[in-house]
Parts: sequence; C-alpha cells; structure tokens
Amino acid sequence: MAAAEIGKQDNGGITRLPFSEEERAVKELAAAFMQEAGLTVREDAAGNLIGRKEGKHPEAPVIMVGSHLDTVVNGGGFDGALGVLAGIEALHSMNERGIWTDHPIEVVAFTNEETTRFPNAMIGSRGMTGALTEADLQQKDGQGTTLQQAMRHAGYDPEAIPQAIRTEGEIKAYVELHIEQGKILEARGLSVGVVEAIYSQLGDKFILEGESGHAGTTPMQLRNDALMAAAEVMGAIEQEARMAGNVATIGQLRVFPGGLNIIPGKVEFTLDLRHTGDEARDAFERKLIGLAERICEQRGIKLTVHNLFRNSGAPCEGWIREAIGAACSSAGLEAYELISGAGHDAMHMQKLCPIGMIFVRSRNGLSHNPEEYSSPEDCGDGAEVLCRTLLKLSSMTNE
Ligand code: HGY
Ligand code: MN
Ligand code: MN
Repeated sequence: MAAAEIGKQDNGGITRLPFSEEERAVKELAAAFMQEAGLTVREDAAGNLIGRKEGKHPEAPVIMVGSHLDTVVNGGGFDGALGVLAGIEALHSMNERGIWTDHPIEVVAFTNEETTRFPNAMIGSRGMTGALTEADLQQKDGQGTTLQQAMRHAGYDPEAIPQAIRTEGEIKAYVELHIEQGKILEARGLSVGVVEAIYSQLGDKFILEGESGHAGTTPMQLRNDALMAAAEVMGAIEQEARMAGNVATIGQLRVFPGGLNIIPGKVEFTLDLRHTGDEARDAFERKLIGLAERICEQRGIKLTVHNLFRNSGAPCEGWIREAIGAACSSAGLEAYELISGAGHDAMHMQKLCPIGMIFVRSRNGLSHNPEEYSSPEDCGDGAEVLCRTLLKLSSMTNE
C-alpha cells in the first residue's frame, strides 16, 4: 500500500510511467525492502532492479521471481507491484527463518512492462533476454521523446543494455505472481490460481486519411470524412470480436485537425488483439484489416496499418505448474488452472528458461482501473504459494 501511494492521482488512480520520477521513487522503495530482506541489490543496464539471495551453490542456476513496478495511466496498485513485493516478502521470510536454499534466488522488478508510454513495451524483460532492437530505442512516446532519450534522461546508458542480457542455463526457472485481472477466480470463490499459458497479443496503429473540409458548406454525400469511416470500422471490429468470442480493444484515438467545425481529414487509432496462439492471432488480424479495407474503399478513404508489436503466447512449464499446484495443496488451497488473457514479462522470459505463473483474485475482475483491488488475505495466500513454490524449485534434492 506504501508503493500504491507513489504516482497516485487525485481520483485515486496511479500513474507510474517508465523512466519517470514516479518509477524511480517506487524502485527506491522496493530496493529498501530488498535491503531489509537481506538481499544484495543492483540495477542492470536495462533498468531492471534485482535483489539476490545467495544459495549454498552460488554457481547453480538462479530461480528467478519477478514482475513490474510501472503502471498504466490511471491504473491500480496491484498490477505488477504485487508480484515484486510478494517475491521480496518470500525471500525476507526465508531469511527470517534461517532458510538457506541450494539454488540462489533473484527477485526482479522489470522496467517498462506496460505499453502506456512506448507501444512496443516489456523493455526490461526484452532487455534481459536480448530481444531489444535499435527500432525499439527509436520509438517515440506521445510527446515525441524516444525511448533512448527517456532512458538517458533517467540516467541509463542505452548503449550498455547488452550488458543486461542473461544467457540460457543461467536461470533454472522464472515464476511470476500477478493479479488475475479477470473474474474467473472470483466466480469460483478462489483466492489463487495456477496459470496454464499466456495468450498471444499484438498492437496495430490504423491511419485513415480522407479530406478535411467545411462543416457548414459540405453536403454529407460529398464528404471523405475520416472519422465517420473510422467509426464504421471500429463498429465492425467490435461486432467481429463479439461474434468470434474474442477480444479487440481500441484504446487510443486521435482526430486531425480536430476543429469543432472541420470535417476530420485524418484519424489514427490503436488496436490491441489477444488470441490463443500466434497463427490464430494473425489470422484474426488479417480478417479485421480486410473489413477495414472494404469500408475505406467504399468511402474513398486511404487506409494504412502499422504493426506496433507482436508478442508470442507462452505455455507455462509442466513441472513448474506441478510445483505451484503442490504448493497450493500444501497451503490448503485448490490448485485451479486458468489461462492468462493479459500479457506479462514471463512471455519474454520463456526464451531463457521455463516459466510459471501464480494468479491472485481481483475484486470484480477489475484492473487498469483505480478500483483494482486484491484483499490482504488473497495477497497473503498468493505470497504463501509463491514462497512454497520457490522453496521447492530452489532445492536440489529431487533434481
Ligand atoms: O496489456 C497487458 O496485457 C499487460 O497489462 N501488459
Ligand atoms: Mn497491466
Ligand atoms: Mn502486469
């Protein structure tokens, strides 16, 4: 709850953009908690904050636990932060009880997980897995600042990012605790769940160009109104997603030139798609773009679609799901398995090592919203399952 005060807005929402003062402040708070927990604390060249608990075999592969501390605009205090803080608490509890595990354990706060400031996000986990490109560094935020400039301004050297890369074999497993951000656990009366897999996702930018004109003198049938075309396209996208039982979200819309008495000549909007797998995701994207092309052609509107990001879905590893399930059972909790519609840093970490995720119930399934909330009891259950899972994974007895 102390972390949730950082970046809090008047309406109770939280905004902690990456490479901002707010993210710096919450990292300092988390670093203090890591120090109190007896961890060795460092920040890597990509801006990830890392707390390490040594193991009996320091050269053994790391068990990594983590999530993110940045938030969406006007978001909640649990998305990301709960996973980082529960990881710190689990290691603090082990140290308080004098538990020394075989494998070393690291808790990571990945920077820039959300697409809020820079569309192609998950910068921290992509930096750690060597997946960042020059194009990533040149992408701009809404004020025209590139990621490279934002990192430099925050005191990082983007050219040093390759030093953050961890190699295969360095990490035995990555486990992420996260709020569910949906209604399934609540509907079943469960405080925690075991994630089976993370859905594939993509982001596109649609640009529609018509002709701006005078609102008073241009008859409706003579207009090339980019916004009315966009409205028809957005309605068609919503209808298609409903019929397919899928999700499609238009989160950002910009109208140019934006005068009250000017027929919009140009419109830009973003599309966020999720699907069970990469092929299904891309086929659904093609279907929606086809719909948009037909509508724009009929209306004499020029359509351009730019892909902003494409994240592959990730299966959670069987033996890690079993370890989490056993941890649930030993804590007297049901080991209920469910899918993650939300994206997480774990989907990038799967390039380095097997992954697992633990979900904690979200009240009313709300997230990316100031009303986002998980009860202390549910957070406690999540941290308990995480701690038991980490103890299992960091032991060499049954390797
Ligand atoms: O958009 C997502 O799925 C996550 O909140 N980054
Ligand atoms: Mn989020
Ligand atoms: Mn998140």
